[in-house]
Order: sequence, then structure tokens, then C-alpha cells
Amino acid sequence: MWTCYDPVFDCDQDFKEMMAYGTWSGHRPFAYDYVRNRKPERIAELGCFYGCSTFAFLQAILDGGLDTRFYAVDSWIGDAFTGTDYREDVFGTFRRILDRRYGDLDVRVMQTSFDRAALQIEDESLDLIHIDGSHRYEDAAHDFDLWRPKLKRDGVLFFHDIGEDLLYGQPMGTRRFWQDLKKEDGACLEFPFSFGLGVWSRDEEGIRALQAAIDLDHYQKLVNLRDSEQKDLLRKNYFTIRNLRAYTGWLEDQNRELEEWNRYLEDLLLPEGREEGKEAGL
Ligand SMILES: C[S@@+](CC[C@H](N)C(=O)[O-])C[C@H]1O[C@@H](n2cnc3c(N)ncnc32)[C@H](O)[C@@H]1O
Repeated sequence: MWTCYDPVFDCDQDFKEMMAYGTWSGHRPFAYDYVRNRKPERIAELGCFYGCSTFAFLQAILDGGLDTRFYAVDSWIGDAFTGTDYREDVFGTFRRILDRRYGDLDVRVMQTSFDRAALQIEDESLDLIHIDGSHRYEDAAHDFDLWRPKLKRDGVLFFHDIGEDLLYGQPMGTRRFWQDLKKEDGACLEFPFSFGLGVWSRDEEGIRALQAAIDLDHYQKLVNLRDSEQKDLLRKNYFTIRNLRAYTGWLEDQNRELEEWNRYLEDLLLPEGREEGKEAGL
């Protein structure tokens, strides 16, 4: 039995652009439902950034009244995709939203590398790991190999960026890694939208049960609806900006005309004044 919820994400009140429209945002409904339905005891997330994914998990923990422990791991110094020259205080923003909205939950913030954080987590202790770090093939393989032993036997791993989307014009290394992993080991299911989310486990029976319980189309429809709302908003904003630009252009024309009139009137009136000034020795 799988319940589909209709969550309200409190974090949207603080930073809607990054939470509701971020590249990961299409996965919020599934991630939320997964936590509410499966009630994992321990979750680790590798790659939090501003917290779009983090707060989706935490909202479910909060709303479900769960006592799940959540490890939020990120160096918060960025990578090849997010860039490393943050001009905004990404960690500060993450921390503020976390404290304001989810401050009573059992969240361990680990501001360090994935490698260092792994040393502090016991093997076979996690029910769910979400990996959303570097998109390069070798980094994805490294993060997976390092953290996979941390999963319980029936634990589940979410892996972001397995989609066909291009990133800066290139296919993502994470997608190639995912394709290789699927051939080799375990069982999985996939959401193709929002850069793609893979759900993987060694527990093939568990993945089959999950697949039978959920309606993948339900999540696709939700994201389609949201995408069309966002496209509509983009179109509206485009035309608003276009109209404002046209109005600005009209104001600039008016201004030029007024300046011309000013010059004309000055030429008409000032010669006398100049003469007067000269006579007065000014
Ligand atoms: C794509 S972003 C995460 C996006 C986030 N899940 C969301 O929903 O918006 C990747 C993050 O992983 C972090 N990261 C990448 N490789 C890392 C590593 N080896 N150790 C620590 N942090 C890393 C970066 O600092 C960046 O904030």
C-alpha cells in the first residue's frame, strides 16, 4: 500500500526559485512520498547545495512525525557543475532555512568532503542514500563505491543526473555510470525527468515491490503539470519584460525630444544673456 501525498514545502517561503524550480525539484513529490511511506530510520544525502532535495526529505520527516536521522553532507565549496566561485553565501542560506523550518529534526550537517564524511558513518547503517555530487563518471563511480557499503542489506540508493539531458552541451558522466551499474549489479527503477533520478538496491525483491506499489506515471504527470505552469510563467515574464523594454524605449525617445526642445529654447534666449554677461565682464 503506497499513499501519494500532496505536500506543502515550507522552504518555498524562503527561496522559491531554488526550491520549487531547481533542477532537482521535479523529484520532490516522489522523495517526499518515499520517506512518508517507507519511514527510513537513517538517511544520508551527498550533495545538498541550497537544499532543494534536502528539504524535500526533511519536510516528509517533519510532516510524518518520524524520528529519522538525516546526514546532510556537502563541502559547500561547489564542483564543476555548480562552480566553485560562489558569489552567494550558499551554506549560510541552507543553514538559515534548515534552522528556521526544520530546526527540531535530527539533522547532522557535515560540511566536509564525501570521503571524510564516510569515515564517520558505520557500514550497513543507512536505509537510504541520495547521491547528487559531481557529474563526472569517475567521481560518480568513486562516490558510489565509497558509500555503497554504508547501506543496509535492503537499503535503497537514489542517484541523481541519470537522464539524457545535456549539461553545458555534454552528456552527463553520471548517466554513463548509471548505465554501467544497471548492467552489473542490483535492481533499479528510473524517473527520466528533472535530469533523471535512479532508484537502486541490492535487494531486487525490494525494488520489485516498490515498482509494483508506485505509479510512475503519477509522478511524471505531476512534473508535466508543473513544467507547463512554469513555461506559462516564463512566457508571461518574457512579454512583461518585452513591454517594459518598449516602454523604456518610448521614455528615452521622449527624453531626447525634450532635450532638443531645451537646447532650441536656450539658443533662442541665451545669446542676449551671453552678451549681457560679456558686457558685465563675467
Ligand atoms: C548538484 S549539487 C547538489 C544539488 C542538490 N541536491 C539540490 O537538490 O539542489 C552538488 C553539490 O555536491 C557538492 N560536492 C560535489 N562533490 C563533493 C565532494 N566530493 N565532497 C563534498 N561535496 C561535494 C558540491 O559542493 C555541490 O554543492
